[in-house]
Amino acid sequence: MSDEDNQKYMENNRRLWEEWVPVHVKSGFYNVDRFVEGADSLNALELDEVGDVEGKNLLHLQCHFGMDTLNWARLGAHVTGMDFSESAIEQANQLAARCSLDARFLCCNLYDLPQNLMGQYDIVFTSYGVLAWLPDIPSWAKIVASYVKPGGFFYIAEFHPFAMVFDDDAQNLQYRYPYFDCGAIKFEVKGSYADRDAQIGTKEEIGWDHPLSEIINSLIENGLQIDFLHEFPYSVYQQLPFLIPDGNEKYVFPDGKQPIPLMFSLRATKP
Ligand SMILES: C[S@@+](CC[C@H](N)C(=O)[O-])C[C@H]1O[C@@H](n2cnc3c(N)ncnc32)[C@H](O)[C@@H]1O
Repeated sequence: MSDEDNQKYMENNRRLWEEWVPVHVKSGFYNVDRFVEGADSLNALELDEVGDVEGKNLLHLQCHFGMDTLNWARLGAHVTGMDFSESAIEQANQLAARCSLDARFLCCNLYDLPQNLMGQYDIVFTSYGVLAWLPDIPSWAKIVASYVKPGGFFYIAEFHPFAMVFDDDAQNLQYRYPYFDCGAIKFEVKGSYADRDAQIGTKEEIGWDHPLSEIINSLIENGLQIDFLHEFPYSVYQQLPFLIPDGNEKYVFPDGKQPIPLMFSLRATKP
């Protein structure tokens, strides 16, 4: 896969995100009004594992339209969010104004961040549905590590790459996609994950699979020390059609089905 192809695929995805943003801002999935009224958009998992952010400088990578970034701001962090979708950044600024929260939002491709943002942060944060949009994990890890202050940490909560190998339309676990990175994979766009009926002009989304070992080793090779890696048999999102809500904002395997890991979280510190 040439670099030129990856640029072309990321540009396709950027156009798709430009179309998804207005759909998401209006969706019940994101429920912006609830957030404005004071509810958390962050899940108990990351709230608990990231811990107290009061007074900390926090960089949020691939922040979408900034709701989680602003949740960290509401908890006392000084936040910077970045995303490559212009409409996401526009909406993030509007949401910050609506909530009277201070935040800085920056629009650029993650791989161009070093040319657009200086400095280091106590916490570099990213979550749920970020890595599969990125073609190159070693370069991602180099960028991530460069923004962590000595003594600071990187935290990610993400869908487990093993769960990504299964057909997300099938009513049982059917192996469909590669686990190891085999280059770009094309998927037909069917609305959006937040609204299946949304009318979207971009017809394809392009993703990349990255095994857990590559994610972890790339962070280690860039000078971060892994504090923990956790794997979870539940998801914060209906990742597979047969998962059932447990009434506690989690989706779990029905009784009788052996669970596989659906999400992982990792914290890594810069010594
Ligand atoms: C699933 S969302 C992040 C989810 C976030 N947890 C949320 O629900 O608000 C993925 C984000 O990654 C962004 N993105 C994808 N590829 C990117 C890239 N190469 N550089 C910067 N942002 C990118 C998209 O615009 C999108 O906002």
